[in-house]
Amino acid sequence: MKKTIIITGGAGFIGSHVVRLFVKKYPDYNIVNLDALTYAGNLENLKDIQDAPNYTFVKADIVDAERMDEIFKEYKPDGVIHLAAESHVDRSISDPLAFVRTNVIGTVNLLNSAKALWKDNYDGKLFYHVSTDEVYGTLGETGLFEETTPYDPNSPYSASKASSDHFVRAYGETYGMPYVITNCSNNYGSFQFPEKLIPLFINNIVNNKNLPVYGDGKYTRDWLYVVDHARAIDLVFHEGKLTDTYNIGGFNEWQNIDLIKVLCKIMDKKLGREEGSSAELITYVKDRPGHDLRYAIDANKINKELGWAPSVTFEEGLEKTIDWYLANEEWLESVTSGNYAKYYEEMYEGR
Ligand code: NAD
Ligand code: DAU
Repeated sequence: MKKTIIITGGAGFIGSHVVRLFVKKYPDYNIVNLDALTYAGNLENLKDIQDAPNYTFVKADIVDAERMDEIFKEYKPDGVIHLAAESHVDRSISDPLAFVRTNVIGTVNLLNSAKALWKDNYDGKLFYHVSTDEVYGTLGETGLFEETTPYDPNSPYSASKASSDHFVRAYGETYGMPYVITNCSNNYGSFQFPEKLIPLFINNIVNNKNLPVYGDGKYTRDWLYVVDHARAIDLVFHEGKLTDTYNIGGFNEWQNIDLIKVLCKIMDKKLGREEGSSAELITYVKDRPGHDLRYAIDANKINKELGWAPSVTFEEGLEKTIDWYLANEEWLESVTSGNYAKYYEEMYEGR
């Protein structure tokens, strides 16, 4: 069936994997990638599909309500997969308002434009919000986040994502907007901006720079290979229950320090360095304020209802990821030059 889908944030890390999957898998769909190209957005991420006949890129800021209305009127989407966001917790601590603008106001603008276009007939329409497990706050040593876990966000980033989730749900209740929300755990893989733990540490090891471990390094995250997240989004978009939410996770918990040691070991091998040399770069630094102790997802609902499960093991995914970064040093250099160098200095200086 012919469909037009607007994917927001398609030039970012996860968005570019979702755009690639949809463009390749659904030649009958028109895929419109709507992205403001902030520091985190990069059209290089989509070079391999940029000339596909079913792909269009539109540069626009979701905070601009009028522009969103124009774009929705022009492309008349049947569906929206909304990923555009400010996504880095540390940046949200320095500048919370930027997160309110994009993540809250931007999401409400998209909901309004979709409502204006669809309000007379919601049949076959879908607003899909891609969200995070951080909305649930933090776990203690045990337990898992379930779809019914109460929201309890701790950082400005997670508060803004929780707020946007609430707006999506409220538009469903109040205006009948057909929606679905997924809350996913930490992603890793190719094209991730090197401010996030795994690509940052790969880049620092390559350049023999310190590996800044926050606090005691005993924080736990549940890691998922980004291609598996994109597969889950495809499945939920096509088969998910309307007005429902699904948790997505890797069944793959790691304490930061253990993960970092594994990463160091693999990097020593790949770079032909003496075993233990990358680990010498580990430096314990001042903790992130409000640092959530542990995230871990119960992904049984999406597994049982839609048959989704991760397709690669962590060992395979990490190996592929490291190989990709080592083969794409130019990409790393281009995204880490300019403004990012300044950010790095400010974020880590004196920590
Ligand atoms: P990212 O920071 O890599 O990419 C964000 C994209 O959004 C960029 O292309 C950027 O240019 C675009 N963008 C930012 N502000 C915009 C604006 N005002 N208007 C239009 N475009 C704008 O983010 P990511 O890690 O790929 O995350 C994508 C989504 O998935 C986010 O909503 C995030 O909250 C969610 N998520 C991320 C993870 C993760 O581990 N990275 C996990 C769960 C959920
Ligand atoms: O759980 C999903 C979330 O995962 C997403 O919603 C976010 O967009 C994404 O950024 C990610 O958030 P985290 O804060 O968990 O990811 P980050 O890579 O920033 O940090 C992972 C862990 O590593 C966390 O415990 C903090 C720690 N850390 C991070 C950096 C950047 C360090 O110890 N040192 C660092 O320099």
